[in-house]
Amino acid sequence: MSVIIVIDDEHRQRDILQTILEGEGYEVHTAPSAEDGIKLIKALNPDVVITDLKMGGMSGMQLLDTIPDDLIKPAVIIMTAYGTISSAVEAMKKGAFDYLTKPLEKDAIVLTVKKASERMELLKENIRLQDALFEKFKIEGIVGESKNMKAAMEVVRKVTPTSVTVLIQGESGTGKELIARAIHYNSPRRTGPFTAINCAAIPENLIESELFGYEPGAFTGATHRKIGIFESSDKGTLLLDEIGDLPSLMQTKILRVLQDKEVRRVGGKDNIKVDVRIIAATNKDLEKEVIKGTFREDLYYRLKVVTVNIPPLRDRKEDIPSLVRFFIDKYNNEFGKRMKGISDSAIKAIMDYHWPGNIRQLESVIERAVLMSDTDIINLDDIKGELRLPTDKGILDIEIPEEGINFEELEKELIKKAMTRANNVAAKAARLLGMSYKTFWYRLEKFNISSKEDMPSQKKN
Ligand SMILES: Nc1ncnc2c1ncn2[C@@H]1O[C@H](COP(=O)(O)OP(=O)(O)OP(=O)(O)O)[C@@H](O)[C@H]1O
Ligand SMILES: [Mg+2]
Repeated sequence: MSVIIVIDDEHRQRDILQTILEGEGYEVHTAPSAEDGIKLIKALNPDVVITDLKMGGMSGMQLLDTIPDDLIKPAVIIMTAYGTISSAVEAMKKGAFDYLTKPLEKDAIVLTVKKASERMELLKENIRLQDALFEKFKIEGIVGESKNMKAAMEVVRKVTPTSVTVLIQGESGTGKELIARAIHYNSPRRTGPFTAINCAAIPENLIESELFGYEPGAFTGATHRKIGIFESSDKGTLLLDEIGDLPSLMQTKILRVLQDKEVRRVGGKDNIKVDVRIIAATNKDLEKEVIKGTFREDLYYRLKVVTVNIPPLRDRKEDIPSLVRFFIDKYNNEFGKRMKGISDSAIKAIMDYHWPGNIRQLESVIERAVLMSDTDIINLDDIKGELRLPTDKGILDIEIPEEGINFEELEKELIKKAMTRANNVAAKAARLLGMSYKTFWYRLEKFNISSKEDMPSQKKN
């Protein structure tokens, strides 16, 4: 049953309300001032607060401003004397649920409180459902509590029940395919097929017949009819992986499918309706490809109806401990091992590393460590060889001379070296140094080093 707090400096009013509402089966607590009321609200996390407007000390209006909104905010009902309705209206603007005029009438009290507590029930039910959905994604093995990852998952949660086209962007190994699968298997299409094709891996001359199929005689060697992937994905989800590598002629053809929702087999005469949800994934910055002219702008806009940006692991290091735990459990199961955990020095090294291969790389490091270790915890020695730490490469083998060194010069040298190694592609150079793209660009500008790419400030986001 709902918990209600009644705040009024007149004890007669408090008693009346308490009696009436307890008679209706609510759990009622009372406070003689707004200050005490706030304390009770924090302690009891009530569903409904009924407060007088005018009280000695803090007013009901001030109380409205003070209620902490980290919890689910209670529904607040304001009590106001006849003739001061305007302040009740003001209170409603500030987010009060409703108001009651004094002298209080039993029926009005009961009805208003009932509405308020029903609204709160609904709100809480919604939040429970959302939590359950997150739980489900977790069950499917998506680990991530960080703010960055939660933001991405929030978008995922919203698009999942729909058939909207989704563009998933993220560096290699960040979990793009995992998320695409989660979307499919939690969507109403889950009973249909999930197909993933890697646009970068199919030879250019085969992409069209793979995607659209062909009729016998369409070309030499086409002896029978072949059903393409679009057709066989009907009522399901198709992941176009590495879409950034799609040859331009195919970009045009796919755009047409997205617009018309029908395909034509190579050599065929009829258009065939297909009902396929498209998820596209890429580790390229498609917007940049559009600017360069290698990716069609109209297709880009078709695909990015909703974009999910999966942050690289180095931008969500808070997730590392739970990912490590998750992979230890996974490979304990797989290899029949009983590793208990990981040593402090090992987890520290893992936290310090910049993970250019993201979660896939972390997973394989843990997999190997679980397999190879002779003890029951993962030690630094089990993983050190896998983390190409800068110290191993000797770049920090410099002595600091008597007169000291200029750190900025050193930084500039490192950045130049990384740019050379990365062929002047800033995104790649940033990765080599374990820096975020933004931070890296800031330094490029600062040191006036040029790059093949345009400044990210020309981007819209
Ligand atoms: N949040 C996560 N929780 C648990 N496992 C994850 C998570 N993200 C990725 N993984 C695991 O990491 C590996 C790589 O993920 P996935 O193949 O989805 O990445 P990707 O972004 O598609 O990579 P690529 O660009 O190289 O194709 C998989 O084994 C996947 O299960
Ligand atoms: Mg992938």
